[in-house]
Amino acid sequence: MAGKIPNTFIDDLIARVDIVDIIDRRVPLIRKGKEYQACCPFHEEKTPSFTVSPSKQFYHCFGCGAHGTVIGFLMDYANLSFVEAIEELADGMGITVPREDSGSRGSNTAPQEATGELLRIVEQASYWFQQQLRNDDGGKKAIEYLKKRGLDGRIAASFGIGYAPNSWNGLAGALGTSAQNQQFLLKAGLVSQKENSPEAAYYDRFRGRVMFPIEDHRGRTVAFGGRILDQGEPKYLNSPETSLFHKGAELYGLHRARRAIDAESRSIVVEGYMDVISLAQFGVDNAVATLGTATTRTHLQRLFRLAPEIVFCFDGDRAGRSAAWKAMVIALPEMQDGRLTGFLFLPDGEDPDSWIRNHGKEGFNQQLDQAISLPEFLFDGLTRQVDMARMEGKARLVSLAKPLLAQLPQGALKEIMFARLSSLSGLSAGQLGSDQSLQKAQNTHNRNRDANLPEGQLSPLALATSLLLQNPELGKTISNIDDLRSLNIKGANILLAMIDASLNTQEQTTARLLESFRESEFHSYLEKLAGRSHFVDDQSLELYFNDTLDRLLYQQKEQHRLVLLEKSRQGTLAPGEKEQLVKLLQTRVVDRE
Ligand code: UTP
Ligand code: MN
Repeated sequence: MAGKIPNTFIDDLIARVDIVDIIDRRVPLIRKGKEYQACCPFHEEKTPSFTVSPSKQFYHCFGCGAHGTVIGFLMDYANLSFVEAIEELADGMGITVPREDSGSRGSNTAPQEATGELLRIVEQASYWFQQQLRNDDGGKKAIEYLKKRGLDGRIAASFGIGYAPNSWNGLAGALGTSAQNQQFLLKAGLVSQKENSPEAAYYDRFRGRVMFPIEDHRGRTVAFGGRILDQGEPKYLNSPETSLFHKGAELYGLHRARRAIDAESRSIVVEGYMDVISLAQFGVDNAVATLGTATTRTHLQRLFRLAPEIVFCFDGDRAGRSAAWKAMVIALPEMQDGRLTGFLFLPDGEDPDSWIRNHGKEGFNQQLDQAISLPEFLFDGLTRQVDMARMEGKARLVSLAKPLLAQLPQGALKEIMFARLSSLSGLSAGQLGSDQSLQKAQNTHNRNRDANLPEGQLSPLALATSLLLQNPELGKTISNIDDLRSLNIKGANILLAMIDASLNTQEQTTARLLESFRESEFHSYLEKLAGRSHFVDDQSLELYFNDTLDRLLYQQKEQHRLVLLEKSRQGTLAPGEKEQLVKLLQTRVVDRE
């Protein structure tokens, strides 16, 4: 594992890059007063509501609520992980990302070099596997196997298919020529380490298998899937999770399928390597496969970024249906208006590979047209679980459907699906609680970006935090900082840490404050507070902020007073608390005046 990126480096990077530059390169911005605007890249719109603030180093869309720092922007817009976003920014400035010492033993290679070395060894391994297909005796058997499965040589080559000989020391012998290379092979998951054996300590992970190289979303080979030729367990062996390869984030064939997904405005998600390859052989190039894992949100976000429609093509058996149901639940929060998700179940015993071989591209496309839509799939699945002829059945339907529908982002689809539930159950929209305020309450488990949106009035703590986040220089105007330190309200520590950060740092910005709390459980809430409008003019800000802090302190005293009053009623006041209470009751009179 590469070491952690030091927080000071991240803070420094945010202070040095300009969010306006970074976004403008991808979404051309137009100056509007102190801010910049564009049509939002995260939802369809004709008039710009996407706003970038150079002073806050923060973007916010008033249309769809998308918001964040430059790092958040790169993560959402370019679908990068946090670390990838940092690397992208650093690359752009020509600086290398330092890593804290992770205490990894053995090699003293700098970690950023190690990623390059790992990629190189995986690339070399892929080349070596492809050579073995031609050179090794077993390779002939592999070619026969692929031919038997109907693969032509051209498509096999274009997917880089190879062969791992049935030997313990094939790849390990060929590429493990130095202690360092052996380490790289190990870290790339290509060899395993024998226990208690000083010599020849490494052996091939993949033996006697047809090898499918797996590319990440940037097109770099990062892992392999290996299929056994005949009988044997497991049928497919995949690379383990490594620093290069995360199953939950990558899809087999995605890099290759990008163009076709864009051209077709649709992606197809299938279950297997062979499905992707056969579809491509028959001219269906927009298919990708999950890598032996359940569909994740990252998968869906990557695909929706490329095209507004996803069709899942799963086996019609029970396992396939249950995988599809899970994918449907994961997809709900991603179903913004304009997006389509469909589910296609091939007849029992068929998969896309067999279907396209028997029925051709036309036959496969006909099946695609039969895919059932997400709303149909959801309501079909639920009504099947209950007895719709009975009132209790309808009540159960409501209780099953409501938490699912609550996952949908605000929009027309959500309303239409609530309307459908209403006609199925006979309850009105009001009775279903589909109106905004109730949905907000149901949304607390929703990980969707609009969930927990601080709507309505903010508590004094949230308001003060929001004002300070947006205007870090306000930290210098606080007079009663010691009183604030005694606050014991949940979240007050964040406000205090921010005050300290704005007192101790020159040119503090919203973005820097936000990024320093990225690992906090409150990070996404803080982002929302950073994007909230307060409609306060610049001259009144200081007053408004300090007034809010006063209200916060008052609220704290008031709570303390109530606790003490209750204790005194029960006769459980601790020594000293009585005096506190008397004092609080006196100051309360003063506060009120
Ligand atoms: P399937 O068992 O449906 O196989 O696994 P398949 O893709 O149709 O394979 P063929 O046609 O027999 O060659 C679907 C996917 O599940 C993962 C692989 O990613 C495979 O492509 N899988 C399956 C494993 O990871 N390990 C296994 O042992 C089996
Ligand atoms: Mn198959």
